[in-house]
Amino acid sequence: MEASKSAEVKRYLARLFSACDPGLAAKERAKGLGLPNIHITDTMGKFLSLLVRLARPMRILEIGAFSGYSALWLARHLPEGGKILTIEKNSLHAACARENIAQAGRDQAIEIIEGDATEILEDMIAKCQPSFDLAFIDGDKKEYLGYLELILKLSRPGTLILSDNLIPKRGKLGRPLKSDPTALELHAFNQMLASDPRLDSIILPSLVKESGRIDGLGLSLVL
Ligand code: DHB
Ligand code: MG
Repeated sequence: MEASKSAEVKRYLARLFSACDPGLAAKERAKGLGLPNIHITDTMGKFLSLLVRLARPMRILEIGAFSGYSALWLARHLPEGGKILTIEKNSLHAACARENIAQAGRDQAIEIIEGDATEILEDMIAKCQPSFDLAFIDGDKKEYLGYLELILKLSRPGTLILSDNLIPKRGKLGRPLKSDPTALELHAFNQMLASDPRLDSIILPSLVKESGRIDGLGLSLVL
């Protein structure tokens, strides 16, 4: 699709469904703090909230809270008593997310854990914490394979694992350069989604940024 058309499609879809965004103030606060606009799109947020309605997860894990915007979408149709644990390593991002979630009145449902996701997940596994019903991987793109292996240990058959940003911004798809660790990691991750017998997966193209650049969201069901 030509670039101007994908930007137009992205704007059109956002306009159609613009009335229900639970995180407009969250995005404004992030902007005020000088954070980059790397939130999930509103269309993706709507999709996540619909998946929560379908799967009715009581325990959600998010890796990479950033501003808290995606957690607010995940919380939108969270069942009564459900809980979202969101991990954030960057202290400015964690503070922004904490404020956004408090201001939205969702701090009962959403808990921010500040720290390194790998260490936190290893600790959860060591403590035999209950499995998650849904996980959203949106942290360090160079750590995606490690995150997935750890999440599998915190999953059950039927857990839904979602993964953001599976199409790298640069380079030739399927032939990542050795000098591009993000593209290498994402290509290996995508191959794992496609072939790992523990998962049934799809990668859906998505439109991001003002330009409507094509990215991809992974959806994996744990078998
Ligand atoms: C970017 C986008 C993301 O969704 C993300 O999680 C991290 C970075 C980006 O566009 O740079
Ligand atoms: Mg992302």
